[in-house]
Amino acid sequence: LKICFINGPNLNMLGIREPEIYGESSLAEIEKEMQILAQQQGAEIDFFQSNHEGKIVDYIQEARDRFDCILINAGALSHYSIAIYDALKAVEIPVIEIHLSNIYARESFRQQSLISPLAVGGVFGFGALSYKMAFLAACELLAAGQK
Ligand code: DQA
Repeated sequence: LKICFINGPNLNMLGIREPEIYGESSLAEIEKEMQILAQQQGAEIDFFQSNHEGKIVDYIQEARDRFDCILINAGALSHYSIAIYDALKAVEIPVIEIHLSNIYARESFRQQSLISPLAVGGVFGFGALSYKMAFLAACELLAAGQK
């Protein structure tokens, strides 16, 4: 199983940035936790972060031949990036959406996601636990597909 985590703009600031909304964990700490979980699940992961929409689009295009599933927290780009929407649509591998915060309980501009309509499912509102739950969901999904 090969699974990637894609993290969009400002997620490199986790731990420092609005901890009351996004939690105290840094992205490096979340990555470490995911590496341990991946080892337990016998999966291989790649953890990617970029503040640049184009770099995320490049990464998604390359994911087609590299991964079985994409887990993505596109940050603010989730709410308006048609380029990321198009890239995810083009790769044709399952997508699971992640958000640390409950985007539906926040400002109205966050209450729309362009990623949700093309995702298998999503996990939001549980802080760093959203990553763990999304990863376990991906493992179950892929294992079910192999039966
Ligand atoms: C976020 C929610 C977005 O609205 C915000 O722009 C982020 C983080 C989350 O994980 O809760 O950068 O994706």
